[in-house]
Amino acid sequence: MDRRSPVSRILIVDDDRSIRRTLEKFLGAEGYEVATAQDAPGAIAAADGAEVMLLDLGLPGGSGFDVLAALGDRTRPPTIVVVTARDDMQSTVKAIQLGAYEYLVKPVDIDRLRAVVKSALASRNTRDHLEEFISHAAEAQPSGVILGKSAVIREVWKQIGAVSTTRAPVLIAGESGTGKELVARAIHTASADRERPFIAVNCTALAPGILESELFGHVKGAFTGAVADRPGRLELAGKGTLFLDEIAEIPMDLQAKLLRVLQERTYERVGDARTMQLEARVIAATHRDLVAMVAKGTFREDLYYRLRVVEIALPPLRDRAGDIPVLVEGLLAKINRDLGKDVRYVTPAALARLQAHAWPGNVRELENTLTRAVVLAKGDVLDETGLPIGAVQPQGDPADVDAEGSLPTLREIERRHIARVLVHTEWNKRRACAILDISRPTLDRKIEEYGLRREEPA
Ligand SMILES: Nc1ncnc2c1ncn2[C@@H]1O[C@H](COP(=O)(O)OP(=O)(O)OP(=O)(O)O)[C@@H](O)[C@H]1O
Ligand SMILES: [Mg+2]
Repeated sequence: MDRRSPVSRILIVDDDRSIRRTLEKFLGAEGYEVATAQDAPGAIAAADGAEVMLLDLGLPGGSGFDVLAALGDRTRPPTIVVVTARDDMQSTVKAIQLGAYEYLVKPVDIDRLRAVVKSALASRNTRDHLEEFISHAAEAQPSGVILGKSAVIREVWKQIGAVSTTRAPVLIAGESGTGKELVARAIHTASADRERPFIAVNCTALAPGILESELFGHVKGAFTGAVADRPGRLELAGKGTLFLDEIAEIPMDLQAKLLRVLQERTYERVGDARTMQLEARVIAATHRDLVAMVAKGTFREDLYYRLRVVEIALPPLRDRAGDIPVLVEGLLAKINRDLGKDVRYVTPAALARLQAHAWPGNVRELENTLTRAVVLAKGDVLDETGLPIGAVQPQGDPADVDAEGSLPTLREIERRHIARVLVHTEWNKRRACAILDISRPTLDRKIEEYGLRREEPA
């Protein structure tokens, strides 16, 4: 049901006849099939046949905004490039909101126009060849799912299953952003205590004195400012889960107190003599190397062993790049849901770039990067231009290295590629133009320039 002709069709919408004529002549010479319309209803009526529409904003019979809005609901509307004299913020914002691909201000620089039309067509062409990246399964994932398919992630799933049936302490180790809190919550949710509280304490966020009273609670008058009795997190966790995040950051004296709590399951609130019972299950997490800290004497060895009855290690994302496609799929579905967007196509170049990046901030960084790309995406395609991360190392195509092993020039690659496409299309120049995304005059010029000739098969 591909209705596109090999020659790309451009619809020029402008009420100014001389502008229509100029653009028509220019784009015709570039090898495009050109149609024109002079008012909003005419633009809407002619839109179906066009791949790219150059749209003026001030039009008779409705504005360019009306045209954008009217075409927004169509399944395959033309890619709309606004070409207008209105050089103001409000119009620009509105046009982009309504789905315009680009906003050009008159008088239009002809090279810029040529480039924009080309890239609009290229992005449509890319889009047509992309498979939907998001499956229904991914769309339906509840939040809290640990995505991945690497052996380590499968192992983590099993560990969660195993530890969730016990109340043994668990230590979760991994770099920042690897999903430590996600795993802690998953253990809680998978356990029989899921309806009970999950109380997280970030041990870095609090000054040492405050941390102690946060954990254990205090009674009225225990210290200046203790105006009333206050339960600690240990108490608030009840028979649920107490999550001690960034456990490596707790000071030595508190380490001793915490050790006692874990050993005897009893503690006292600050300023109180009564003994309290710890009933919660304890999960701790850290991005630090606790073994090294124990060796240096900055973390108590006995506490370390108490906490890590079971240890779940989350490897950095760079060591499991195979998880990236599944993560991208699941995270995109979630981001679309959160932002009310529908970015469902990912170009191979974008995916390659995502897989090549080292992700020092791990899954959190990946999530943030994708969120930004989704916000800025034009239409429903995520391509590499929206990714603010380093370019991929060029992959040497062995076919592009000559016998001496030296790399070819750009011209040489172009010559070979055009020759390859001509062989592929059996010298059907219209099809070759469509594949190469160049105009017929350009193709003829290149054939001439590179001295390409149709050869009979040997
Ligand atoms: N395997 C995964 N599947 C889906 N989302 C993940 C995964 N790992 C991490 N995330 C997401 O990445 C973000 C960071 O995860 P989380 O907060 O659990 O990391 P962390 O290890 O606790 O990081 P930090 O040390 O910075 O606190 C969260 O939004 C989380 O949902
Ligand atoms: Mg965390």
